[in-house]
Amino acid sequence: MKAAIIFFSATGNTRRIADLLADRLRYRDWRVLLTPVDEAQISDVREADLVLLGSPAWSGERVVDPLKDFVCDAREWLRGKKVAFFGSYDWGEDRHFDALTAELRESGIEVRDAPCVTNAREGLPGPEAADAFLLDLTAQACTD
Ligand SMILES: Cc1cc2nc3c(=O)[nH]c(=O)nc-3n(C[C@H](O)[C@H](O)[C@H](O)COP(=O)(O)O)c2cc1C
Repeated sequence: MKAAIIFFSATGNTRRIADLLADRLRYRDWRVLLTPVDEAQISDVREADLVLLGSPAWSGERVVDPLKDFVCDAREWLRGKKVAFFGSYDWGEDRHFDALTAELRESGIEVRDAPCVTNAREGLPGPEAADAFLLDLTAQACTD
């Protein structure tokens, strides 16, 4: 099975979560394409069974524009795949994926309920938390 992990990270927090998720998927023998959003191609999504999309919260609890733009461009290719968000925030309320999640669901794209989100001041999630986040995504992807 193949996963695409596509992320934006200005100061490294979201990138570290991306690296952790990639490690945990590789540990389960998944093939992983890990790429910053400015280098990502639509074909990365097209070829994946599972798509993980990462962004920090920026400017009033929003996903950064480069990731949002990529998601809009790739929207048709997300249909029928497992899709989940991950990322980092600081002073906000941990809701920055809500609007984009609702938008994708309105177009019939299935998005995991709880994103993997951590507060920048609390450090990375541990491997157990990453595994718990991935568990249903990988199990469902395998049985489709
Ligand atoms: C321009 C800018 C806007 C931000 N806006 C928010 C915000 O609205 N809410 C919040 O909780 N954190 C906000 N932050 C903090 C980042 O979400 C936080 O530092 C995050 O860990 C950065 O992730 P990164 O290291 O992957 O870039 C903002 C940071 C920057 C640089």
